[in-house]
Amino acid sequence: MADATTSITPDAAARLLARGEVVAIPTETVYGLAADATNPAAVAKIYAAKGRPDFNPLISHIADPAQLTGLTLPDTRATALAAAFWPGPLTLVLPRAPGCPVAEAVSAGLPSLAVRLPAHPVARAILAQLGRPAAAPSANRSGHVSPSTAAHVRHSLGPAIPVVDGGPCQVGLESTVIGLTGPQPLLLRPGGIPAETIEAVLGEKLGRPGNARLESPGMLLKHYAPSLPVRLDATAPQGREGLLSFGPPPPGFAAYYPLSESGDPAEAAAQLYAGLHALDRADLNGIAVMPIPEEGIGAAILDRLRRAARGR
Ligand code: TXA
Ligand code: MG
Repeated sequence: MADATTSITPDAAARLLARGEVVAIPTETVYGLAADATNPAAVAKIYAAKGRPDFNPLISHIADPAQLTGLTLPDTRATALAAAFWPGPLTLVLPRAPGCPVAEAVSAGLPSLAVRLPAHPVARAILAQLGRPAAAPSANRSGHVSPSTAAHVRHSLGPAIPVVDGGPCQVGLESTVIGLTGPQPLLLRPGGIPAETIEAVLGEKLGRPGNARLESPGMLLKHYAPSLPVRLDATAPQGREGLLSFGPPPPGFAAYYPLSESGDPAEAAAQLYAGLHALDRADLNGIAVMPIPEEGIGAAILDRLRRAARGR
């Protein structure tokens, strides 16, 4: 739902960002709460608007793969992954380059920087006009469900944050985050590109973070949580539950939101956050989710749902 009072144009967004303001922008994964990554005061506004803990670093978004070199020290693995998946839902965590212009707060004190080149044409136009990297976490209050529409952003962050409405996000889940600061590439967060697809390009298996506090601070936190309890692998209702269905739904639930009637995981990913927002209703006492196979993007869907289920 567009709202003329707070929707702004991409051109206005780029000018606000250049002046050190925060703006919510569409990407193909989720809406991001953007600020000029090279401006420490602007970056501080992101942490304040989200209520985000200051130890959780942000992703820097770029418009051109050539920007990666001034910001980080990309190796051959990074170059291969960027060539294969950018623009798109892949974030690379690399050592910060000497003289990296991005504010230290974006890295939350770590010697690394996360970088992504998004595919959404509106995001790309804004980043190209800004000419500098934009730090952008998902545009929701810290810990809450991520936004896949402009209306979700307004619901979570309120009317004071200007939003560029680029329509519903097509991937619907955050980017896959790959750590490339050590000898073994690490899957720091499952996301829009399946781990198997990334392993095929790298020619090696992805490790899992051993020291989450140092390697993937964001994954320690409560995340993606609606107000209602979330129950997985549901086949019959328990009380007044709403059902996120995948394939043909069983009867008896108080409300339904189809993630995919045909059981298509990509469609379910695109609908997941809209479904969690839609069923987070005062007249229900829980959100139940049908079984979803843990393959391909299904792994990222289940990662988010498990965090939602234990995250209250
Ligand atoms: O799809 C996405 O990635 C979206 C859109 C807006 O681009 N952004 C997003 O940002 O999901 P956020 O802040 O919600 O999640 C960023 C994740 C967190 O888990 C954070 O801990 C991790 O990336 N991260 C960022 N910088 C890092 C670093 N230097 N080392 C390790 N993890 C990092
Ligand atoms: Mg987030």
